[in-house]
Amino acid sequence: MALDLDRIRRETPACEKRIYLNNAGCSLQPTPVYRAVLEYLDQEQETGGYEAAAARQPELEGFYDSVARLINCRPDEIAYCESATRGWQQFFYSLRLNPGDRIITTRVDYGSNMVAYIQASRYRDVEIVFLDTDEKGDIDLDHLHRLVTDRTRLISVSHIPTGNGMINPAEKIGEIAGSAGVPFLLDACQSSGHLDLDVKRLQCTALSTAGRKYLRGPRGSGFLFVSREYLENAHPAFLEQQGADLIDETSYQLVESARRFENFECNLAGKLGLGVAVNYAMQWGLAGIEDRVIRLGARCRECLEEIPGVQVHDQGSRQCGIVTFTVEGVEASVLRSRLAGKGIHIWVSAGPGSLVDFQQRGLDAVARASVHYFNTREEIEIFGTAIASIAARARQCGQSR
Ligand SMILES: Cc1ncc(COP(=O)(O)O)c(C=O)c1O
Repeated sequence: MALDLDRIRRETPACEKRIYLNNAGCSLQPTPVYRAVLEYLDQEQETGGYEAAAARQPELEGFYDSVARLINCRPDEIAYCESATRGWQQFFYSLRLNPGDRIITTRVDYGSNMVAYIQASRYRDVEIVFLDTDEKGDIDLDHLHRLVTDRTRLISVSHIPTGNGMINPAEKIGEIAGSAGVPFLLDACQSSGHLDLDVKRLQCTALSTAGRKYLRGPRGSGFLFVSREYLENAHPAFLEQQGADLIDETSYQLVESARRFENFECNLAGKLGLGVAVNYAMQWGLAGIEDRVIRLGARCRECLEEIPGVQVHDQGSRQCGIVTFTVEGVEASVLRSRLAGKGIHIWVSAGPGSLVDFQQRGLDAVARASVHYFNTREEIEIFGTAIASIAARARQCGQSR
């Protein structure tokens, strides 16, 4: 279905009150998602948590079918998890890493992933290699070719980094990983619900994501995809009776599906809500969403680039709906609160999420405006005008000092 913007905005009531440009942090849930979560919580309150789960079993199972359709895999290749990081870790720590093994990644990878790489290098003597990039920040794919050896245990990449604006060439990376037979872990936390993902095309072994960002699902929800092929030999680092059938005091049998990576206890309202959010996105079509978000992101960059004193920091030859920038003389956090005063919501990228990327680019903190398909060109223009006025005031103050 073509994107029906009137309906989409009606079903996103906050659009009436504010210009919401923090979709890379946590997007606004569409009304059907929010209602599904509330109804489920009501039912838990009314009948009890276990009873509600039993009564709603078919819909809870439907979660796996929905996600499978979203990324073109089988339902038994999906595990529900509470965050992108948890899903990512479940896969990462299932790798049997040995001293001298090599992990290939990028400097724009998410901070929590970096911590895991450092841990693996410190305690498992694993070699972590960062891919070279060109002046635009694009990955050098020849370097990746050269780096893949028989000691390479993993290629791990954030599809869309948290504070960078670029889209990494996941399909090309998947091609190289696939032909070398090396597992490819794709952190799709910012790309699911943003781009039209297909794990067959991406040739990834595993993909992790959060529900709350571009998928517009509830907080505390996410999923992990693990390919059937990898599952044959995958043993989770953390395993409980949900993931393994306990047979007797000395043995258990892993469950067949990716659900071996799940916990029994989880937020079922979140699971149901994420399923509804996935269906909601698919109803509009991910190709249309991707196209609109990328175009709005590009317009946003154009607006900012015209403003004296504003610097856009986005990299990559392919860019997305995340736009990062600074305004001369205005700290990113001050800018955020000034915009909030005008009903415009952005966020600040700082701290560990982009630390390694920012260190190599000499950045400390940047303002991050992240658009979604429910935003409009008019909103982008209003945002641009607000930034222009803040930047002009900062310039005047700077000159009079
Ligand atoms: C690229 C990327 N990966 C991983 C994460 C972590 O997601 P979560 O907080 O759901 O663990 C984020 C969060 O912003 C992210 O941007």
